[in-house]
Amino acid sequence: MASQAAELTPQAQGGADRIDLLIAAYGGRAPRYTSYPTAIQFTPDVDARQYAAWLRGLRRKSGPISAYVHIPFCDSMCWYCGCNTAVVNRRGPIEDYVARLLTEIDLVAATLGERLEIGNIHFGGGTPNMLAPHEIGAILARLRLKFDIAPGAEIAAEIDPRTLTPEWVQAAAGGGMNRASLGVQDFDPAVQQAINRIQPYEVVAKAAELLNATGIHSLNMDLMYGLPRQTLPGLEKTIDMALALGPDRLSLFGYAHVPWMKAHQKLIREDELPDSRLRYQMQRRAADLLEARGWKRLGLDHFARADDSLAAAAEEGRMRRNFQGYTTDEAPVLIGFGASSIGRMPQGYVQNATAVPQWRERLGRGELPVARGVAMSEDDRFRADIIERLMCDFAVDLAEVCESHGRPLDDLADSISRLAPMQEDGIAQVRGAKVEATRTGRDFIRSICTAFDAHLEQGAVRHSASI
Ligand SMILES: C[S@@+](CC[C@H](N)C(=O)[O-])C[C@H]1O[C@@H](n2cnc3c(N)ncnc32)[C@H](O)[C@@H]1O
Ligand code: SF4
Repeated sequence: MASQAAELTPQAQGGADRIDLLIAAYGGRAPRYTSYPTAIQFTPDVDARQYAAWLRGLRRKSGPISAYVHIPFCDSMCWYCGCNTAVVNRRGPIEDYVARLLTEIDLVAATLGERLEIGNIHFGGGTPNMLAPHEIGAILARLRLKFDIAPGAEIAAEIDPRTLTPEWVQAAAGGGMNRASLGVQDFDPAVQQAINRIQPYEVVAKAAELLNATGIHSLNMDLMYGLPRQTLPGLEKTIDMALALGPDRLSLFGYAHVPWMKAHQKLIREDELPDSRLRYQMQRRAADLLEARGWKRLGLDHFARADDSLAAAAEEGRMRRNFQGYTTDEAPVLIGFGASSIGRMPQGYVQNATAVPQWRERLGRGELPVARGVAMSEDDRFRADIIERLMCDFAVDLAEVCESHGRPLDDLADSISRLAPMQEDGIAQVRGAKVEATRTGRDFIRSICTAFDAHLEQGAVRHSASI
């Protein structure tokens, strides 16, 4: 459980000037640590043969696994979007994709040494509700045919409220879906215009109502800060409007502006983007407001009602970090289906071909469509555990992690020395073997984690700003 570090408030330390210094020192590019090693370290050394061997080694007695299904299609392009998706306005490519996806499920199941049980399924994208109702039903049915779905399994989808239909919700709920995450971002019409995502409040309200009425009661909403034309009062208003719709969880993502990777982000006017100080204030103000409303801040960018299962997991030190963000899912194995999906095996990470044509072609040849990955070394596992605890709890007991990995604390001497300036700057505290982010330091947790990252040098410039 994250303990309360003695706080050096920004005010006590010189207020805005101090924050500016901290932003300059620690608000630069850093990984989001949804995995360690991060996706930038993936290489083609992990290929289909390697993945097949890993799949064959999985055992049902090790417990339920998780599944991720990627749907890389959208109705229109939001200019801020950093996801792997494309706009399609014909049924053909989607029908073809679903047919291949079913083939991929069959192929993975045939490669496994045993029939496995799934405890958690997540449909991400892109926009899973771009699928026709019978298509979402068919994918869920195929998963049920080839795997056992654990009683009480969590089945969730990311949903664009603008295109949600009662028929889709019916089919998804019929297939066992019990959680949904609605893309909201910001309710301010000026912001919506600047990001090419017009989405009136009533549209989101209707989607939330529809899900609830169909038995999908557990609801997350994605909000963003750092968007063009966004203001502090506007963000506060968005949060209160979102809360009025009764979600259990909120994500508040900092807009990652990476136009060198996502060309459509060039359509966003950089002179309308909030600067790093305003970005900092936005996430701070949002967190303060939500805490004042009785919500729990969980990790970097998630919030939950105090009675939510994710808040309970955080309280008990059981919260985990994965590619979908923060989760209660403790399964050690995640199988990814669909173009660009990432999976986690006991031995390391695997990623499917990112582009649909390559993914499709590989499946057409009867091959697992893996393009890259990374086998984790013992040192990677050791550092992954430290980074995950910091990202989830804002604190880690290095002695505990060292003991569970049979490593001496001395092996972390370099990392601990990298924390020294952070201690001086009041964002981290090191007491014996206990490392903890201060309250201000929580906003810079990605930078604190870099002290334990043995791979950072090679990928630093490709990450987004950490504030
Ligand atoms: C796959 S989308 C959600 C589902 C659906 N496609 C929608 O937009 O309604 C996942 C979420 O990622 C977040 N996101 C997308 N691009 C981002 C970026 N560049 N930086 C930070 N968050 C981003 C948005 O909050 C978005 O709702
Ligand atoms: S934010 Fe969602 S709807 Fe918008 S382009 Fe990205 S994946 Fe598609």
